[in-house]
Amino acid sequence: MCLLCKKYVAFLDDSKKMTIQEIILADAAATEEAGRYLGRSLQTGDIITLSGDLGAGKTSLARGILSELGFQEEVPSPSFALMIDYEPPEVSLPVAHVDLYRLDNPEDIQELGLDEFAFYGALLVEWPERLGQVIDQIWPDRLALHLDILEDNRRRLTWQRPSYWENRWPPLEY
Ligand SMILES: Nc1ncnc2c1ncn2[C@@H]1O[C@H](COP(=O)(O)OP(=O)(O)OP(=O)(O)O)[C@@H](O)[C@H]1O
Ligand SMILES: [Mg+2]
Repeated sequence: MCLLCKKYVAFLDDSKKMTIQEIILADAAATEEAGRYLGRSLQTGDIITLSGDLGAGKTSLARGILSELGFQEEVPSPSFALMIDYEPPEVSLPVAHVDLYRLDNPEDIQELGLDEFAFYGALLVEWPERLGQVIDQIWPDRLALHLDILEDNRRRLTWQRPSYWENRWPPLEY
């Protein structure tokens, strides 16, 4: 059975519980709103990866998370810096916003010090594809979000969610 409404495509899973499988984001504001929902439950050690084509909305979603955590200024894309970190008091939880698009070699990620960062903050990582297969070993508990650009320019948000995220994603309402 498939229920189609404005934002969600939901299916009944084996235990007959309603599970949302994807969220259609009508505009950039909706993408940021999804980020704000995630920001409400974000905690130390969380790793969220954001994949999708160029311009899919990854930074917009990160922007929503940071805004929910209290960051009030413009959130730049970390494409050139590779990583921009946000610390209290500007945010309620330390966050490293990372963009691996320009990472030449997956091993270079060590230089960013992300493992140390995840001890006291959360990681938001655009272009996780750049890490290849090794990602499953280094971040098995990550929430992997994926954005697709639809023909009408809306975005479709899908995900792979480990049990670690079960009570926090997907939303029933946001
Ligand atoms: N749901 C949406 N519908 C239409 N446009 C959107 C949506 N979400 C974001 N956008 C727009 O898409 C454009 C690209 O967004 P953004 O910079 O967040 O993408 P990105 O995936 O981070 O890109 P890059 O791959 O360059 O890092 C922006 O103009 C943004 O406003
Ligand atoms: Mg981006």
